[in-house]
Amino acid sequence: MSTKILIIGACGQIGSELTMKLREIYGNDQVVASDIREGKPELMASGPFEIVNAMEFEQVAQAVEKHQIDEVYLMAAMLSATAEKNPAFAWDLNMNSLFHVLNLAKEGKIKKVFWPSSIAVFGPTTPRINTPQYTVMEPSTVYGISKQTGERWCEYYHAKFGVDVRSIRYPGLISWTTPPGGGTTDYAVDIYYKALEDKKYTCFLAENTALPMMYMDDALAATVAIMQAPAEKVKIRSSYNLGGISFTPAEIAAEIKTHIPEFTIDYAPDFRQAIADSWPASIDDTAAQTDWNWKHQYDLKSMTQVMLDNLAISLSK
Ligand code: SER
Repeated sequence: MSTKILIIGACGQIGSELTMKLREIYGNDQVVASDIREGKPELMASGPFEIVNAMEFEQVAQAVEKHQIDEVYLMAAMLSATAEKNPAFAWDLNMNSLFHVLNLAKEGKIKKVFWPSSIAVFGPTTPRINTPQYTVMEPSTVYGISKQTGERWCEYYHAKFGVDVRSIRYPGLISWTTPPGGGTTDYAVDIYYKALEDKKYTCFLAENTALPMMYMDDALAATVAIMQAPAEKVKIRSSYNLGGISFTPAEIAAEIKTHIPEFTIDYAPDFRQAIADSWPASIDDTAAQTDWNWKHQYDLKSMTQVMLDNLAISLSK
């Protein structure tokens, strides 16, 4: 019998593309999408869907039981900028949903769990350039505190209860199908929309703020790779650093200008600047490369080409 998967948070930026990718790999009926609200027509039409509030244990447990789920991908979370505005709710959502899934795995109801961590686990005292896997971690955001705590619990459930939980510290993710919401790295998606629609963009980060970023296809490939790796290859059970690209708002703007010469950018940093300043500029992901053969494909140039080509089509519809 082949693997039966539940994706929680399937209608978000990552979840929506991950659902389609996993349906391609495992078969439409094998991949149950779930979210607190319905998603895009192609996601709803291509396979099973359940309304699930990730904060309610019973709802998660019922979906797992009803569909005889083997693997859960927990993609529901409140991101960094929104979490600063709703600290208590962000903490509840990000932590309770993780406990629900880890506890179902501990009880043997699920065989494998994917849970995303983030570059937000690092903080202002972390070395910023080529941030190592093991280093100082003093996150200064609510989101980062929840992700770092989550990492500790993942490692704990693996060590104490043998839970097969796997995790990646995603950098800022860039994609054109579903817009992100509430993140500090979201400017790097928004800028492409505004470049095509208005030929100008006001960036909420300063021009020289370098952050680790990645094109969505690479993030999905990494997610599938870590989940399909033999258990003994997944040596780190907190979360793996994942590199990719590193660029500043000025650099992405310059790359966009090679396609849209009249494009202009100006800068009006807001509260998200302090969040960005507390995060790494680039990431060392040697452990992922060594343990499960990770390698990213897209650089700033190839990502910009794909983003502008695809958004031009979807915005003209
Ligand atoms: N992209 C996320 C954010 O900006 C980082 O994990 O919140």
